[in-house]
Amino acid sequence: MSHKITIEAFTLSAATKAAVEEACRDRRLSRSQVSVIEGGLSAALPYYNVNHTPNLIIAEEASDDATILEQLEKLAEVCDPTTKVVVIGQVNDIRLYRTLIQAGVSEYLMAPISARQVLDTVDSIYSDPGMKTRGKILAFFGVRGGVGSSTVAYNTAWAISRFSSDDVIVVDTDIAFGTAGLAFNQDPKQTLADALSNPERLDASLVERFVSRIDDRLGVLAAPAVVRGFTPVEPEALEKILEMVRGLANFVVLDLPHVWLPWVQECLVTADEAVLVAYPDLANLREAKNLAELLGELRGEGSKPKLLLNRVDSTRKTQLTAKDFQEATGLEPLQLVANDRALFETAANNGQMAGEVNPNHKAVDSLKALALALGARVPQSKARNPGALGGQSLQENLNRVWQYLIKKG
Ligand SMILES: Nc1ncnc2c1ncn2[C@@H]1O[C@H](COP(=O)(O)OP(=O)(O)OP(=O)(O)O)[C@@H](O)[C@H]1O
Ligand SMILES: [Mg+2]
Repeated sequence: MSHKITIEAFTLSAATKAAVEEACRDRRLSRSQVSVIEGGLSAALPYYNVNHTPNLIIAEEASDDATILEQLEKLAEVCDPTTKVVVIGQVNDIRLYRTLIQAGVSEYLMAPISARQVLDTVDSIYSDPGMKTRGKILAFFGVRGGVGSSTVAYNTAWAISRFSSDDVIVVDTDIAFGTAGLAFNQDPKQTLADALSNPERLDASLVERFVSRIDDRLGVLAAPAVVRGFTPVEPEALEKILEMVRGLANFVVLDLPHVWLPWVQECLVTADEAVLVAYPDLANLREAKNLAELLGELRGEGSKPKLLLNRVDSTRKTQLTAKDFQEATGLEPLQLVANDRALFETAANNGQMAGEVNPNHKAVDSLKALALALGARVPQSKARNPGALGGQSLQENLNRVWQYLIKKG
């Protein structure tokens, strides 16, 4: 498993610097962004007064425990709540180790350290099941064929990659007719069909190679879109692939074809979010109602599917309304995406997204809002949280440790 994190290492000695640099070259950190800055823990403080803290800070400090604690307290004031800290020190003292761990530091390593120790430490911090990247799967399904489900799915993925701090991978499961490759202007050699045809050979790094990268925030596992030599979707194989893909990005946008097969239903039940895309007419209303009932039951009360109305045109009096859909399905439509053939056809024919053709279009705003409604996170401005590290408040813990040390004299 390769980690996708940002690491900033503040080193004092040449040996520590060399160990971190060697660790950077390892497969496990191949997707991470690692910077090595000389000057140790004390250099970190002025640095984070002007910079965001990364996922992980590795800081070397040669002085005594009181100084380490004092420096860490200052660091805590400028740390993002999710930032983890590893301290490298000279003091071989189990009490210091315990004190630091108690204070919220993830690990204390004694210098000299090896590249292997750095990698194992990163593994142990980020292999915690709660911390591992486990991308949220957003399954898009058109309640009838041709309603624009794939278009909405791709544009939502694009919006996540552009307007949020999350990354995303689109998986096109429409093996014979999928359009993800065309939509993102990709002509991949490897597709989902290759992954599906050899499930026993699959591992995370192979799946990663099957993903075409649009940029570092957006990838596509395209369908072959061939009708000859059709590869059926085996549910277990697809599940295995999705488990691997979700380890690569914060979101997986699953484009499902409009066919009612057990694996499609399974995806709609197990996905973190099931998005039903409907056109506002009577037939769509009936399918949306049936699917909302079925998925409402199978997914459970707290996890109802989401409903999205696409191609909405308020000037067309013949279209049904969001209220009609809400009354029939019990689901409040999340977004109404405007009908604009010129925009979507131009985009599709250019291998572009709607937001690239016309960033100010209201349909683009709707898709951006949809991305956020589905959980994509707005990029944070520099967080000046008073020092919560790894879900625990470092500053609070340090205060307790200080109180304890003062009492002890
Ligand atoms: N909001 C919209 N306004 C105008 N045209 C749209 C809109 N959304 C999608 N379209 C167009 O609708 C057509 C069908 O889109 P798409 O292939 O995404 O539908 P689908 O539901 O995935 O179809 P299928 O059932 O074949 O999978 C495309 O030509 C697309 O450009
Ligand atoms: Mg489609």
